[in-house]
Amino acid sequence: VKDAPPDLPDHGGDLVHAELLFGHHDEWLDLSTGINPWPYPFSPPSREAWTRLPDGAVVGRLLAAAADTYGAPTPDHVVAAPGSQALIQLLPRLRPASDVAILGPTYGEHEASWSAAGHRVRVVSGADELRDCEVAVLCNPNNPDGRVLDPEMLRRLAGELAARGGWLVVDEAFADVAPGMSLAPGVDQPGCIVLRSFGKFFGLAGVRLGFALAAPAICASIRQGLGPWAVSGPACRIGAEALGDGAWMAETRSRLARQRLRLDRVLHEAGLEVAGGTDLYRLVLVPDAARIHRVLGAAGILVRRFEDHPRWLRFGLPGDDAALGRLAAALACCRVPVSQSP
Ligand SMILES: Cc1ncc(COP(=O)(O)O)c(C=O)c1O
Repeated sequence: VKDAPPDLPDHGGDLVHAELLFGHHDEWLDLSTGINPWPYPFSPPSREAWTRLPDGAVVGRLLAAAADTYGAPTPDHVVAAPGSQALIQLLPRLRPASDVAILGPTYGEHEASWSAAGHRVRVVSGADELRDCEVAVLCNPNNPDGRVLDPEMLRRLAGELAARGGWLVVDEAFADVAPGMSLAPGVDQPGCIVLRSFGKFFGLAGVRLGFALAAPAICASIRQGLGPWAVSGPACRIGAEALGDGAWMAETRSRLARQRLRLDRVLHEAGLEVAGGTDLYRLVLVPDAARIHRVLGAAGILVRRFEDHPRWLRFGLPGDDAALGRLAAALACCRVPVSQSP
């Protein structure tokens, strides 16, 4: 097994890179993302969904389902995009150069996108430091540590920022497992922009679907920035069906919560300290993340390491007993023999 090179991929889910690092495995257990291992069982989109451009009715059904499920005031407060990543990249291009504060450490694409668009960006470590800027950006719950900020405090912050023409951007990519804390119902408030990811909770990251929820004037500017037909017809249909299936969502929330407890047990039994996370991923603190990453990789199990945080490892949820057992067995090989421990 080679040592992990310094250029770790910026994101989880990169099995091509994993094979370069660890060699070929017939069956990777990919725990490097926060994607639900039990995808929504969608009906195959019709032939027409593939052959015709998605018209207003198709997009309208998607927006209505999204507004209803996320709790946005109306479908006019929702814009659909090919993944929330596309929105993360677009938002900085809709403003003149601004002072931007990002609550870190967090999903690195926010800093990359605001910096690339020429804004003055600071990554701050406390919510108090978000006051002194024109645009505040944060993930709620946060990736990777699951930190959650009080929605009431965020609504006040949005009001302060809006009073000077600013924005509060809240990335709720993982909020489906904690819907009570979403700012979606309050997006009519000026300057408040919420991002939602379809791929994670619904386990369909390859569909590439995400949403911005905001006041209609901001939505119009985002829609214009994306241009026509940004979301494919099949994605619109799959999204509308899944977002309309309240029973599946409720069942999935409890299923993920149960599986997360089982994962915590396996991590605990392996002597790993869970420092945070959500029901879609767990962050553990270890003395030497590189070594455990390497031992698991050699066993065909990919977890997420972080270049700037040598003690962090993030684990996604294994989807069944066999996968949990495989992880437990591989973690047993990671234990430092007593004779070598400090
Ligand atoms: C916090 C956060 N936001 C947004 C995204 C982008 O997700 P997507 O473009 O699939 O919606 C990710 C992906 O990992 C993420 O972790």
